[in-house]
Amino acid sequence: MLAIKNIEWIGDARAGRLRLLDQTKLPEQVVYLDCDRVEQVADAIKCLAVRGAPAIGVAAAYGCVIGVQAAGPEGAGASEAQRDALGQAASLLASSRPTAVNLFWALDRMQCVSAPTPDALLAEARAIHEQDAAMCEQIGRNTVALIEKAVRAGRPAVLTHCNAGALATGGIGTATAGMYLAKQNKLAFRVYADETRPLLQGARLTVFELLIAGIDVELICDSAAAQVMRGGEVGMVITGADRIAANGDSANKVGTYSLAVLARHHGIPFYVAAPSSTFDRAIADGAGIPIEHRDAEEIVNGFGRRTAPSEVVAHNPAFDVTPHELIEAIITEKGLIQPVNADTVAQVLGMSVTV
Ligand code: MRU
Repeated sequence: MLAIKNIEWIGDARAGRLRLLDQTKLPEQVVYLDCDRVEQVADAIKCLAVRGAPAIGVAAAYGCVIGVQAAGPEGAGASEAQRDALGQAASLLASSRPTAVNLFWALDRMQCVSAPTPDALLAEARAIHEQDAAMCEQIGRNTVALIEKAVRAGRPAVLTHCNAGALATGGIGTATAGMYLAKQNKLAFRVYADETRPLLQGARLTVFELLIAGIDVELICDSAAAQVMRGGEVGMVITGADRIAANGDSANKVGTYSLAVLARHHGIPFYVAAPSSTFDRAIADGAGIPIEHRDAEEIVNGFGRRTAPSEVVAHNPAFDVTPHELIEAIITEKGLIQPVNADTVAQVLGMSVTV
């Protein structure tokens, strides 16, 4: 399990600060960013120092505490000043990234705190953090049987994309949660991790954390997935999600959709692992999910090395949407949504998306 903390509150509510593991520096350096201004938290989310849908939500929740620290001393009018400061912090943080709905879910929860003192907000941020960890554990428990089934069927490899791991959440990850528990249960499985162009979250982050856990992981180029699947060893594909519409259409890191198409062609079940906080049931289907477009420099000048002529035009959607028909099941903390459609999403999640 990952011993390194990706998100940590240091100190008390009134003068404390948010410590974030700077994921842009991994795997070469383990460096932390200490944030005592809400702008720093928003920038850390934008530049992917903290990333992954649940982790973005947790970091933003703590960011709200920082936003209110500066609202002035206690006393007459304090509550109004704190409410204003909270609103401003939340709107800045909400503008940091558009796709991961956990961000907006966490900010809504923070804004529902009735007397938004730093102490009350820190308690709520800690609750969001702890609940995310609990949801990851339960997702893991709900995934292990699927890994075991694949192992028993003689297809012991799990293929994953991007990083839906401990680094991306407040706990043991979503897509990786079952892997960690399967390792504890001594299941003989292995993992293929897609590199995940252009920012290499699979290579830099998933491989980093799975190796620390002693999980048998092999890195592949994204474009090798079809060839690896044809080899017959892959028993399941499992990814995370950034936003899931009411009918189960799921947005995740660009390249996920093509994996789902490939998995269908090869008869391999494609699973999405996500907590209820990743569902946006106000959106009927995937067409309504906002897709982040990032700077073309990430493709043509990634990590400071120019790999295409400088005059080229590059198109860089950071996410894609996998249609629900291609998803064998969505693994949530509340159980499996299977088959995936609007009715089963509503049945498993019930009316509320909170835990
Ligand atoms: O751009 P990123 O690195 O934030 O993208 C992250 C992903 O796509 C993850 O798969 C997703 O957020 C799920 S994290 C449990």
